Amino acid sequence: GDGAKVPVLVIGTGYGGSVAALRLAQAGVDVHMVEMGQDWATVAPGPDGKIHPKVTSPDYRSFWMRTRTKQPVSNFLGFPIDKDVPKHAGILDAEDFAGISVYQGRGVGGGSLVNGGMAVTPKRENFGDVLPSVNAEEMYATYYPRANAGLGVGQIDPDWFERTAYYQYSRVGRKHAERSGFDWTFVPDVYDWDYMEAEDAGSVPKSALGQEILYGNNHGKKTLPKTYLAEASATGKVAISALHRAASVTPAADGGYQVVLEQINTDGDIVATKTVTAGKVFFAAGSVGTSKLLVKMKATGALPGLNSEVGQGWGENGNVMVGRANHMWDPTGPEQSTIPCSGIDNWDAGGAFAEVAPLPTGIETYASLYLSITKNPHRGTFTYNSASDAVDLSWQTAWKQDSITMAKTIFDKINSTEGTIYRTDLFGGYKIWNDQLTYHPLGGAVLDRATDNYGRLHGYDGLYVIDGGLIPGNTSVNPFVTITALAERNIEEIIATDLA
Ligand code: FDA
Repeated sequence: GDGAKVPVLVIGTGYGGSVAALRLAQAGVDVHMVEMGQDWATVAPGPDGKIHPKVTSPDYRSFWMRTRTKQPVSNFLGFPIDKDVPKHAGILDAEDFAGISVYQGRGVGGGSLVNGGMAVTPKRENFGDVLPSVNAEEMYATYYPRANAGLGVGQIDPDWFERTAYYQYSRVGRKHAERSGFDWTFVPDVYDWDYMEAEDAGSVPKSALGQEILYGNNHGKKTLPKTYLAEASATGKVAISALHRAASVTPAADGGYQVVLEQINTDGDIVATKTVTAGKVFFAAGSVGTSKLLVKMKATGALPGLNSEVGQGWGENGNVMVGRANHMWDPTGPEQSTIPCSGIDNWDAGGAFAEVAPLPTGIETYASLYLSITKNPHRGTFTYNSASDAVDLSWQTAWKQDSITMAKTIFDKINSTEGTIYRTDLFGGYKIWNDQLTYHPLGGAVLDRATDNYGRLHGYDGLYVIDGGLIPGNTSVNPFVTITALAERNIEEIIATDLA
């Protein structure tokens, strides 16, 4: 409530925030978390009787405060499929900046609510580029294994993979990759693979096999509320306030920090403004959320002592999406698991790692869809715009050309081997490449630059960054395992040193 004093306030309930809350609570510290999105575990089911709708039928639950859906695959057979929806505190934010839309999860659990659950540890030899100031030996001996255990990462049973109709699209992806001489690999995931096999057998309600993913999974996925946050809450020392947005942080007169919180309703109206005092504040609002807060606090004089690295070094993990048109004799299957389980690795030779992605429409599409992670060298900067009271991002759509060039090292070759072409009917305007989005925002409060080497913000004792904002723009694979492992490393040091 208004006027409360808490030892630690965590802003955001994604990967970084959940790790911080659990480890602080286990060290005996009372933690209060604030989350601007909803606590989906307490939300009433929709007209389909479920909490989360299918990816094929977005509605008011699907998007964060938009009046029209913004589906990543926006067209089908050339026809636009976006539609009007009521403005609501939905689960997926497609946050528009001038040159890119940044997709993010909204609600208790952050990105874990909407993501594909692909839980990939970077190859050790690439780690020096991912986090240059971090000791790789410690990460691979201690913190990556701890993160993988905490997240519940597992692997598909290779025998079932060969049998099930739901991964025909992935087997076609493998065949095409291997015929062109590329390395194809299984990718670990936090989805409960036993549950998925039971879905296939028809003995449990379908989720991954029932077109649930982008707007939430009703079953099967080990999201943060089922892992780190469940453990945190079992300590009895962690409280979470949903539909509370942190609006400002500034030093308090008698020590600690004053945090202004805006409580909102599901229409987005502010229903109360509260001021709380916190001994320490962890920024875990995600790369974009944390960057926006810090850049604004620095520019408006709330935290003028933050250094000029704040807002810098933002990257999109080189994300680019493409579809290929398969021959009629190479169908990918009408029924597809929404959980990707494989990837094509051409990182060393071509700077691209492509996940073989589903297109779970319920009908045969003869399309292979891929989301590539590429070594895009460009980095954007967040700046506060006082005229609009908004934070702008300098990313330019044209910068994605580097990603396209890298992704083409894989798909031009596959097309030439297979005698196939790119699809032009999936993203509108006959576009081949979806170069206007990212699922993987990283950076803006980079480790060892805006903060010290453990996430302590320069200029202010007791302020920390502990989310994807710390990572300088690229992880070479899907990012959440690295975000989690880095948070595990940093919070251990912070507990040992700053709370002793
Ligand atoms: P994260 O974004 O998870 O959490 C931040 C939280 O803070 C959010 O809940 C937000 O609502 C809240 N917040 C923001 N501002 C706030 C404020 N001012 N006050 C209060 N709360 C605030 N990664 C991967 O490794 N494998 C994958 O398969 C995928 N797939 C994927 C698909 C899709 C569709 C998306 C959108 C993303 C992915 N990702 C992914 C990316 C992954 O989900 C992402 O990297 C992490 O969730 C980022 O973790 P963080 O802890 O940085 O923030």
